Amino acid sequence: MRIPENVVERVRDSSDILSIVQDYVRLKKAGSNYLGLCPFHREKTASFNVNPARGFFKCFGCGKGGDTITFVMEIERLEFVDAIRWLADRAGIEIPKTEEGKKAYDKRESIYEALRFASEYYVGKLNDPTSGARAREYLNGRALTEKTISRFSLGYAPDSWDGLIKAATNAHIKLETLKKAGLVAERRDGTGYYDRFRGRIMFPIRSHVGKFVGFGGRLLADNPDAPKYLNSPETEVYHKSTVLYGLHQSKRMARQEESILLVEGYTDVLALDQAAIGSAACCGTALTLQQVGLLGRYVKEIRLLYDADRAGTAAVERAVDIVLQGGVAASVVALPEGEDPDSFVREKGADAFRLHLKTATKDWVDAFFDASLSDNGLGTLHKKRQAISHVAQRIAYIKDDILRKMYVQKASQLFAIAERDMAYEITRVARNNQQQQRPPQTPPEGSTGAAPVNFDAISEPEKMLLQLMLEEGGPMIKYILGNMAYDEFQEGPSRELVNLLMETYEAHGDDVMSAFGSGRTNADETARQLVADILIRRHEVSKGWGAKKINVPRLNEKSKRVAEDCMMRVKGAFVKRQIQHLKHEMMNAPEGSDARSRLQMEYLNQKRYLLTINDGKLFEG
Ligand code: UTP
Ligand code: MN
Repeated sequence: MRIPENVVERVRDSSDILSIVQDYVRLKKAGSNYLGLCPFHREKTASFNVNPARGFFKCFGCGKGGDTITFVMEIERLEFVDAIRWLADRAGIEIPKTEEGKKAYDKRESIYEALRFASEYYVGKLNDPTSGARAREYLNGRALTEKTISRFSLGYAPDSWDGLIKAATNAHIKLETLKKAGLVAERRDGTGYYDRFRGRIMFPIRSHVGKFVGFGGRLLADNPDAPKYLNSPETEVYHKSTVLYGLHQSKRMARQEESILLVEGYTDVLALDQAAIGSAACCGTALTLQQVGLLGRYVKEIRLLYDADRAGTAAVERAVDIVLQGGVAASVVALPEGEDPDSFVREKGADAFRLHLKTATKDWVDAFFDASLSDNGLGTLHKKRQAISHVAQRIAYIKDDILRKMYVQKASQLFAIAERDMAYEITRVARNNQQQQRPPQTPPEGSTGAAPVNFDAISEPEKMLLQLMLEEGGPMIKYILGNMAYDEFQEGPSRELVNLLMETYEAHGDDVMSAFGSGRTNADETARQLVADILIRRHEVSKGWGAKKINVPRLNEKSKRVAEDCMMRVKGAFVKRQIQHLKHEMMNAPEGSDARSRLQMEYLNQKRYLLTINDGKLFEG
């Protein structure tokens, strides 16, 4: 919803930059400015300036700067409109809404209100000397400090069927709202409601901007008949797949470190926070792409630190897939058998844990290899083959060309196979992924099968690559497809032919050309036309490089150079298409929005990459 310009102005004018920044940064007066350590990058000497008179901030270290709104957008990772709301909330300014918008907003607000109320109720019960005594004892026994207990608003739900309902009713909160907030459940006979959480230590779950959205409740007394943890259900305001426990408290640390630990339990987050280490946890569910996307706004790397048991090990493997798919770097921290982060920190202390982090963090590829080995999974070639496929799958998610190549190198060393075999496997996997996503094509009714193909639409260097692969077969196919990402080929006939070449090569081996010649391929009419079109130019082009009919399997240096030149051009064209696309998206994103600045960053990255390509350094060394 749009916010009127005059309201934006009022919010801007009434928000005092100094008091807002001071919630995040310790500032010292220096002349007419204030100076502190930048919250947006790591630094040891202060270069972050705030000028309260002008209402601006600027970091001379990382270059970030702007007004109060920019600051809130950056530090809280909010879109423009939400940053205005955040500031308006703080300044007590009401934002006018449409009737409909107001109703929806009020409804959600009342649910948030009920959750906030419940949290205060549980905190009150924990602080109550009689009702909270046993719960306190328990928390103290787990070595949780007062500071941690209050920082995470831990509470206690007494063992009563209607304690919360009564207190909420007194505070004029409707039963209907408690139900929508997931705080009460309906009696089986339909005669009323009862408190969902009873006799449990309460862990409030907050969104990344700090709203109370749900609860996890741990049994105080071990009881084999009840689940150890009971969690809030999904509600209008609580979507488990998009929330991470502890992120609200750890995000500042995470941003500075550019890295965060992902753990399994609420108690792990608490123990680590107490040791000044930032972490977050999924709340009783598996990691999702949305959660990785959320973390990706704060960090470059996610370190997976799961319980050292069977379930934990399996969960790590699935999580690595999701993290990489979400475009974030992944590493894995192992713990001694049977430990979880909470028990480790409690037994060995914060310093020992930090040391352990330094020594036991492994890149996912090393962790994967070690895990495969210890499972005895590499004992048979068949298992090893499967592991290679899995690694290739993960590497295929990595978009950065150079980083992907580094992984190819590393993985092929670990699994002791040739680099180009690994690179080729990655292209193969990427192709399969894409084909699975595409709905099956049915030819239009009455068609004879052969649709006319516009060969001119395929660029010259792409045609040349196709030709080289056709003529030189196996080694050239591996060389080219080991250096190209599948989607760098233009969609349409060009990509179809790449598919066909791979299929033919896999089925018939190096001499692809004679497989085509003898009709032993799956080529349809279109593909045959395309092959003919490409091969007809053969003499003309070959003359240019002075190449004769080349005998596989050795790659002729000259044709390799030609291939490299063409790949460079095709990659260049691909990046240019990306840049065009990004530019378009950027212009459609609202000015000053978070999305826009992210697109801008990506845009600049791609421009830089284009320069690298044009420098011709891609295939050196
Ligand atoms: P754990 O069983 O490892 O619990 O479950 P924990 O966090 O170490 O807790 P303590 O130390 O025994 O008190 C890890 C996480 O899995 C979810 C919770 O989010 C928990 O923190 N879980 C576990 C449930 O949702 N329900 C359960 O019954 C158990
Ligand atoms: Mn645990």
